[in-house]
Amino acid sequence: MLDKLLYIETFGCQMNVNDSERIVSMLAELGYVPTNSPAAADMILLNTCSVRGGAEEKVYRRLANLRIYKRDGKKQIIAVGGCVAQQEGDRLLEKLPYLDLVIGTHNLHLLPDMVRGAERGERRSETTFIDNEERLDLFPTINGESRLSRFVTVMQGCDNFCSYCIVPFVRGREISRRSGDILAEVRQLAEDGVREVILLGQNVNSYGLKSDSEPSFATLIRRVAEIEGINRIRFTTSHPKDISDELIACFADIPQLSGQIHLPAQSGSDKVLKSMGRGYTRDSYLDKVARLRGVRPDLVFTGDIIVGFPGETEYDFEQTISLMESVRYIDLFSFVYSPRPGTKAAELPDDLPKAEKMARLDRLMQLQRRHTSEICSRYLNTNMTVLVEGEGKLPGQVSGKGDIGRIVNFAGDRSLIGSFVDVRIIKAYPNSFLGEL
Ligand code: 5AD
Ligand code: SF4
Repeated sequence: MLDKLLYIETFGCQMNVNDSERIVSMLAELGYVPTNSPAAADMILLNTCSVRGGAEEKVYRRLANLRIYKRDGKKQIIAVGGCVAQQEGDRLLEKLPYLDLVIGTHNLHLLPDMVRGAERGERRSETTFIDNEERLDLFPTINGESRLSRFVTVMQGCDNFCSYCIVPFVRGREISRRSGDILAEVRQLAEDGVREVILLGQNVNSYGLKSDSEPSFATLIRRVAEIEGINRIRFTTSHPKDISDELIACFADIPQLSGQIHLPAQSGSDKVLKSMGRGYTRDSYLDKVARLRGVRPDLVFTGDIIVGFPGETEYDFEQTISLMESVRYIDLFSFVYSPRPGTKAAELPDDLPKAEKMARLDRLMQLQRRHTSEICSRYLNTNMTVLVEGEGKLPGQVSGKGDIGRIVNFAGDRSLIGSFVDVRIIKAYPNSFLGEL
């Protein structure tokens, strides 16, 4: 049988990246192999994100562009998945006559059947919200493609309803996977040669909290750490309010636990944090950072900040800048607030001019560039243990990640791929390091 070509574009978070991996694996069974060329593809899928308004519009523009390929009279399946699909459902099929499939966030398991139908010309949309135990059996695992670092979903959804956020509406309530299933998956991955797992969920710190029979997230990490072959454990995303003492203790005594943690603050102003419904204060956030550093002094932090939240004054923004100065993130993802219909914050009066919001974002990004550069230059002439994952940027180079999650390129032989090696850092770039063996 001739291979069919599958082209996927992924927007938004790591949840979507992981879902795209699952889609590739599921559709491989129908004979689809990934391609980088939308023009050549037999199927195009956009895995969408609706966290910010701009991303959504981007999807519509992208779909309009992709339509060109279909117009050539070529039989091509066009599909939309992810959060925009979940939100818009049938409306997308109605609006876009050239669209074949719409697949919601809880319906991935239906995709092979939907694609078979689409190959016969059937258009279909599946966006049923599955917010119960049934969802636990709907985590198709990823087969094939051997890789050294893999995501493992531990929970999905979110119960926090931060006032700006669309996620609880499009991804549903928090649901934790059974720890038995998670550990079995990690054991299998270890056997297949995986060396690093990234425990994934919208809010991993509240893993297991809703169930009497499941362990806490900290205990889950300890059990993963017992699995032979898994030398590095990361997790994302954490909610600062749910970082427990037990989890902080993990950083003290689990050497496999990564030297980087993503801890989105969103704002440094108590007033704004309250209006966001974040459930922590500036001080309690900084206290958690200090306690984490107390047990792991070299831990590096990454975070998310929203600027221009409704009601954010110059003083509130200064508070955010000062929080950044206290934490000193190695990397920061910063966004201008974007109102999402249906969320509480979308109802709040927002009279700050767009230009002022952009100016704040600009100032924040400038400060972050300085912090990134200062923190990274601390690693110059030090050794870093790198898991070599593949070929590097330039010929003759290999590339991998250090304990703090940054990419390190260095001259080395392909035979190093798959092993942990000590590399001396000789240059720090904005997004990567250059090293030598
Ligand atoms: N506007 C701007 N940024 C947002 N985020 C989530 N919702 C919004 C919104 N409405 C950001 C938060 C979150 C990240 C994934 O996206 O910082 O942590
Ligand atoms: Fe959104 Fe808040 Fe849940 Fe994160 S914790 S997904 S920001 S509602």
